[in-house]
Parts: sequence; C-alpha cells; structure tokens
Amino acid sequence: MKKSFFTLLLAALASTQLQAQVIEFREAKFRAGDNMEWKASNADDSQWRNIDVTRNWDNQGVPGNTTYAWYRVHFKLPKSMLEQSDIRENVLFDLAKIDDTDEAYLNGHLIGKTGKMPSDGEYRSAWSQPRKYYVKANSSWLNWDGDNVLSIRVYNGGEPGGIFGDKLKISVPSRIDGLMMRHTEAQQGMYRMEMSSDFTSAISGKLVAEVIDFDTDEVISKTEKKVSVKKGKPVNLNLPYDETRCVRIRTTFTDAASKKSISGSYSPKYILTPKAPEAPRFNTTGVFGARPKSPIIYRIPVSGVRPMKFTIKNLPNGLKLDEEKGVLSGSLSRGGDYHLNIVAENAKGKAEMDFTLRIGDNKMAQTPPMGWNSWNCWGLSITQDRVISSAQALIDKGLADYGYSYINIDDGWEAPERNADGTIAVNEKFPSMKNLGDWLHGEGLKFGIYSSPGDLTCGGYLGSIDHEKQDAESYNSWGIDYLKYDWCGYGKKHNTERDNQTVASFVRPYLLMEKYLREQPRDIFYSLCQYGMADVWKWGHAVDANSWRTTGDIADTWESMYDIGFKRNESTYPYAQPGHWNDPDMLIVGKVGWSDNLRDSRLTPDEQYTHISLWSIMASNMLIGCDIAQMDDFTVALLCNHEVNAINQDILGKQGKRAVEDGDIQIWTRELSDGTRAIGIFNVGTEDATVNLAKYSNVLNINNLKTVRDLWRQKDLSTTNLSYKIAKHGVRLLKVK
Ligand code: GAL
Repeated sequence: MKKSFFTLLLAALASTQLQAQVIEFREAKFRAGDNMEWKASNADDSQWRNIDVTRNWDNQGVPGNTTYAWYRVHFKLPKSMLEQSDIRENVLFDLAKIDDTDEAYLNGHLIGKTGKMPSDGEYRSAWSQPRKYYVKANSSWLNWDGDNVLSIRVYNGGEPGGIFGDKLKISVPSRIDGLMMRHTEAQQGMYRMEMSSDFTSAISGKLVAEVIDFDTDEVISKTEKKVSVKKGKPVNLNLPYDETRCVRIRTTFTDAASKKSISGSYSPKYILTPKAPEAPRFNTTGVFGARPKSPIIYRIPVSGVRPMKFTIKNLPNGLKLDEEKGVLSGSLSRGGDYHLNIVAENAKGKAEMDFTLRIGDNKMAQTPPMGWNSWNCWGLSITQDRVISSAQALIDKGLADYGYSYINIDDGWEAPERNADGTIAVNEKFPSMKNLGDWLHGEGLKFGIYSSPGDLTCGGYLGSIDHEKQDAESYNSWGIDYLKYDWCGYGKKHNTERDNQTVASFVRPYLLMEKYLREQPRDIFYSLCQYGMADVWKWGHAVDANSWRTTGDIADTWESMYDIGFKRNESTYPYAQPGHWNDPDMLIVGKVGWSDNLRDSRLTPDEQYTHISLWSIMASNMLIGCDIAQMDDFTVALLCNHEVNAINQDILGKQGKRAVEDGDIQIWTRELSDGTRAIGIFNVGTEDATVNLAKYSNVLNINNLKTVRDLWRQKDLSTTNLSYKIAKHGVRLLKVK
C-alpha cells in the first residue's frame, strides 16, 4: 500500500521532534597530542582533521602509537530543548565509550572524567565504561541558544584507542530518562532488580516483572508493584526463580504522569549440565603423556561420592597408585603406550576404564592443559594462601574430578632482588615454593609458575634475563610442571637488536629457555606468552612450546571474548596438535578482578556458555581464571560438563573452525577421534534467533544424521528437526554422527 501524504508528514514531524531533542555527532574535530589550552571554547581547531567518533581511531589514519589526543565538537543549544523535558533539570552529554580514559570539558569547564591517565600520576583504563556526564540546566557554563564547544581529552593506554561505540549525544532528559534498572542475582536462584534515578524529582508508577520461559515464551510468573523513585532513594524487587530452567526476566516501569515506560530484560544464570551420578564416572578422554623417566603426577578424574577406591590390575613397575585419592605417581623409563585398566568403586557402584599412558620424548600435553591460573582473579595480589585456597577448592568442589589439574601462579611471586648466587628469590607472600609444590603433588595436582625472558615481567617483577639456566634449575627443584614465559620486559632488549624485524629475533628468547627447560629431569609444560607476535603459531612447536598465546590479554567482556575467540584465534587452527596448542588466553568465568577486588564476570550466562563451547571447539587451554573458593554452582556446572570437556580434550587434537558465517549466525565444527563431529551454532548478534541447521546441510555435510546429541543438556535430540532457538550471544553445542 502506498503511504498517504498525511502519514509521511506525521513521520517527518515526529522525526524533527526527535532531532530537536537530541543533538548527535558522528564526526568530531580531532588532533593527536596534548595541550590543555585545547579545552577552551575559543581554541583554534580550524586546521584539525575530522574523525568518525563511532569507531576507534585505529584504521582512521591515526598513528598507532598515539597516546594523548583531543576531540572537539561545536554546537548550538536551542532553548526549545528544555521545553520538551518534564523536569528540565540537566543536560546530558553521552559520550558512548572511550579507549581508555578521558576528561570532558564544556566551554572550558571540566564536566566529567573516567579512568586515570598518566598525568594523574597513575594510569587506570576504563574503556568498557559508558560515559554519561550531566550539567545542571541552569549552569552558567551552558550557553543556551548560543555557541558551545565540547572538548574531550583522551588518553589511550594501548590499542585500540579513542571514542567508540555510538554517536556523541547531547540531550535534556525527561524524568523517566533518569531511571536505571540494575539487574543482579542477590544469591543463587534469587533475582534482584534495583531501580534508581539520577534525578532529584521523584517519579511514581507501576513496576511489572515477568519471568518468561526462553524456549516457549510462556509467562511463568508476573509480579506488580507501585513504586516511587528519586535520586538516593532506589527501590528493590526480589524474585526467586528456578535456576535449572532458561528464563528471561522482563521488567517494565510505567510513569503514572507521562505514561511513558522503560523496560529491561535480564537472563539469570541457568544450569544445563545434569547432576553427576553418585556412582563413579570417568570424566577423561583417557590418555596422559609423559617423557621417559619424568615424574608422573596424575589425578584420575572420576566423579561420584567419596570415599572411593581405585584399583589398577596391570600397574606397570615404577608407578604407584594412591588408592583413595586416585593419584598415580612415579615414573617410567621405557617409551611406548601402557594400557591400564582402572577401576573406581564406591558405595553406589563401580566404573572401569581403559587408560593409555603414552611415554615418549614428545608426549607431554596430549590434550590441552586444564587447571587454574591466578592472574584473572588476583592479579599481582596473589599470595600462597590464595593459591592453596583455590587448589583446595578445585578438589573440594569436584573440579579435579573433571581433569582440572594445573595450579599456576602468574606474575607477582618474585622478590625485588635475586639471591647473592644469582638464583631467583621469592617474595614474602610465598614462604616456600618447594613445600607448596610438594603439597600440590601430594594431592595429584600440578604446579605452574610465571616469568619473562626480559629484565622485568609485565607487573614489574624480576624476569629471567641472563639467568635462564639458573631459573630453569630452580623451577625443577621446586617441582614446577608448567612455565608461562611472558615477553613483556624483553621488548626493550628486542628493540635494540639489529635484526628485530625478523622472526628469528622473536624466536631467540624462547629457544634459549627451551634448552634449559628441556634439560630438567621433569616435564615442564612450556607456555609462550607474547600475544601472537610474528605469527607464533607457525613456529611455537619449533621451540617445543606446548602452547602459545595467540592474542593480547582477555577481559571479561563480550567484545574482548568475541574479538579473541571468533576473530583472532580462528585462523590458527592448522597449527594445533597433540603436544602443541593455540592459547587464546584464560577463562573469564566466575569471580574475576585482576586485583584484591573480585566481582562476577561481566559475561552474561549465555556468553559464558559460548565462551566454554568455543574454547572447547578450539582445543584451547582451559585455565580457570577465577577464585575457585568462591565459585558458585552455575560456574562449577559450566566447567564440569564431561561431554563438553571431552570436546576440548579430544585426543585427535584437531582444532575446530568456522564452517558457516551467515549474518549473526556462525557454525563451527570440530572433527573428533571417534569419527563424529562437534557442531557449535553461535548467535553473535544482539537479538535471539532461530536457526535451522537443515539450511546448511550441504556445507556441513549432515544430510544423513544418525545421532544428534545436545552436549550441554546431555540429551539426544531429533535427527530430522534441526531447528534451535539460540539466545543473543548464545550457543547450541551438538555432537553429530
Ligand atoms: C601479561 C600477560 C597476562 C599476565 C600479565 C602479568 O603480559 O598477558 O596474562 O600474565 O602479563 O603481569
């Protein structure tokens, strides 16, 4: 039907009204450098270039090493904007997001600041925080109906840099615009919403909360409440929900006066992994590799109630079994495959497994390492007590029963000076590495540590430069099983090298440590950390690395995980194989914080399912980055799904890759050792979607499916109806034959 002239006119009117309410900029004047005079409204920016503010300045002709830079926009502020607001309290400057920190000036006056820049004496990035700065509507800083200049000083601490995420927007908010809904889980199974207002004038109305089943859209429950909110007087709403069901909680507030409403939607944590049976169950793909004569420490991953008794009839000479803990120790001097028949028995039943010990020179890390690393939780504030507490919780909460075994100390353990003989010394937070190692080994866990080929680590602690041999020997004497070797301070030396454009110059420090590490009489997993420089995945195996980081550091945001998982690490798939793995960085689930202050991961539950599914398909290192002592049931269930973990640990060792990219839908596949395939259907878009796999049956070669298994739910599904509803940023992980 043709639109009538009248409806077109109305639409035009409506849109001019909207435009009058919000002043928007997609472009700003831009200049790299720093000069505080640029905050003044009369600073001369006529020669400045224009820049798109909706995306970072990278790839917009701004030199890569830019730190400080300024953005400026000129605008008229029509007084008519005020009249459209029912409170006329503030003018809002919404500056989207900024990499990494900023100060915003209106006509020369500071109106807001986020993060810390070096000129503050300290740098703290705040790149993921939205910037919303308010100025009182009656402030003398505002020039109503006249010319105004907004100047933004930006400091970039590392690529990407600059303003990004959306247009710059200036508006006069109405009362309802000051409302914010903050959704949390007060505790497991209890949803809490706090509604607060930025504005001092109160707003009253009706708040409705509905719990909706994700798959069927059925409204499970509905709660209504009359509320009144103003600045400093928030209201709370608490709702219990069933955490074994995937639900959405939709909240809507309607302002009684204006009839305008706002709404929010929240996905609480939901557990898909079925509870493990009480009888013993082996949660391992059944292969463990070691070099001849190297000490073997292996805790057999079996779930089920304790006490449990382990027996191995054909235990080879040289090996010992702790029958209660299920810990294998000792060493084997002859190479080859040893086939063990392991039996685990408890009051509820008995399970049996054929297990292969693969002994040979290059047999370490047959599958990607699973365990814990201190960095994403404690950062530099790691202590021995915190290591022990996570290790103990790894056992107590059953994660060790699923194969998590490495306990790795990241940066922050070294003393400021070496010992007189040049050996590395520990700081006061680590009384004895040897004792810590012995205790871990006694529990069947493995012990990891961190250093740098440079003079200093990234955290400013001592690195191994010129002491590589001594350090490797110290590690051996402490019983270290894993070394993360982080480029960092080595950059300074590298910069001065004449051949620093060559791959050889990137290989050199890692080759050096390889030599000393491999001279030690124990297997030490060699983990390279140099953020993917010089395509490390192409030569990592040549320095006998067991894994190499392919990217910069991960953060607990969708953007970071998406960039690393779906973009950067994808192309590395041909280079993964048993013994040598691509490492897209540690897991960002549970309570993280990189400091003393821990908080829940900012990934939504669906994003966390995506994270673990993708890391499993990509045969990535599975190093937990949170405080295990504080881990909730959701996170335990997320990390301890033996069918999902079996994808990560598949002994064929083939890294999966993307097979389909259709708008927001990505389908990844991984070939498995039993001839089946894992298929991950990911929805990377911002709306829920329904995907019918049949559409891609030729590309995926799934025309004649015998079985379709949902791995998270551990359930067989129809082989003919291949249609799935997938949440925004969510996943369906299948295994098909
Ligand atoms: C970074 C590394 C992080 C962490 C940190 C310690 O370079 O990528 O994973 O180890 O150093 O300072």
